Amino acid sequence: MCQRPDRSRAETLSELSLAVHGGNRLDSTRALRVPLVMANSYALPDDPSDISWSATAPGLYTRNTGVNQHALQEKLAALEGGEDAVALASGVAALHAVFFTHVRSGDHVVVSDVTYEATWRLWTELLPQRYGIEATFVDVTDLDAVRAAMRSNTRLVCIEAIANPTTKVADVAAVAQIIHEAGALLMVDSTFTPPPFYRPLQDGADLVVHSLTKYINGHGDAMGGAVIGSRELIEPIKADAMVDVGGVISPFNAWQIHRGSVTLPLRLRQHFASAQAVAEFLAADPRVSYVFYPGLPSHPEHDVATRQFGARGGGGMMAFAVAGDPATQNRFVANLRLITSGFSLGHDDSLIVHTGTEGGRVASYPEPFRRMGHLRLSVGLEEASDLIADLDAALDATF
Ligand SMILES: Cc1ncc(COP(=O)(O)O)c(C=O)c1O
Repeated sequence: MCQRPDRSRAETLSELSLAVHGGNRLDSTRALRVPLVMANSYALPDDPSDISWSATAPGLYTRNTGVNQHALQEKLAALEGGEDAVALASGVAALHAVFFTHVRSGDHVVVSDVTYEATWRLWTELLPQRYGIEATFVDVTDLDAVRAAMRSNTRLVCIEAIANPTTKVADVAAVAQIIHEAGALLMVDSTFTPPPFYRPLQDGADLVVHSLTKYINGHGDAMGGAVIGSRELIEPIKADAMVDVGGVISPFNAWQIHRGSVTLPLRLRQHFASAQAVAEFLAADPRVSYVFYPGLPSHPEHDVATRQFGARGGGGMMAFAVAGDPATQNRFVANLRLITSGFSLGHDDSLIVHTGTEGGRVASYPEPFRRMGHLRLSVGLEEASDLIADLDAALDATF
């Protein structure tokens, strides 16, 4: 019988090869792709007495890890360069899993003041009110502010490598050094910066969180989330948030995301090259008031982005506004024909969302966001020239 070498976690594989082979082992079916196993339960050995009901390996019960979830976890750990990974039902489930598992009542956390909406709600309302955990929000691009926010009971610092939606870029290595000296853990939500674009563990992050719903699946047809890090930090998340609390990902979603991630490096190249072209077009148009995109020299953290992400570019996300009031932003969006108004990001479809000047987090956003609102654009996989033509035609129709 043909023996295929195990290429599922080879450290020496380049990024394209790892995206194809990561987590993909031959099983007893000899199928070349890990088959979709929807079973929620597995046959126990004749004497099951020494099996722990809280085991976190496949072969027991799907809430404890199924075949497809396990394959996805192996792949994500390999892609991020981490020892272990846990896949959960959504990106928010992954964020909550980190907080629930690694922060206790009486602890203090430091959170980026422009953090993603759900993280912000968890740390302004739910966790402080219910569990007595105090949160301090800081501008993480101001390293002195980060240093000043640290306390003797600071357990965790939560940042985004590129923040949603402001595109503020955190200097992960610099933040890691400061907060490790104070004895805290660094969690980086890297949803905007998936591997191989960026690997925060290499810059000192302890835990990396992804909404798999976005670039890693990439096709807008599955939800999932993941946390990647050392075995010592991930195993308790599996035991607490997955087995005991039940935030498990479905086998179908894990299978779908595993398949979507095969083309991740290829897709990212195209997303990011198109985003650079679109951002340059918008920045040069006098009908556009401002553009925040880390790949533009005008971006406040362009130098940090260039150093941190190297030649890989400025990502696939930008925020901008056209000249005029919120009604004008809405008119502009309504005039788009190719770009779709919709939530989410990292989709093959280019998606735009208009957010006004009201709302909890807006007070911490940069000045033009507060004054004019903003349009968050996720550049998809359409031809860049078609996207630019669509934006140009919508500007013509609006002004
Ligand atoms: C930065 C970031 N983190 C986490 C999430 C949550 O992901 P999900 O929608 O899969 O729960 C999102 C969703 O937009 C996000 O943008």
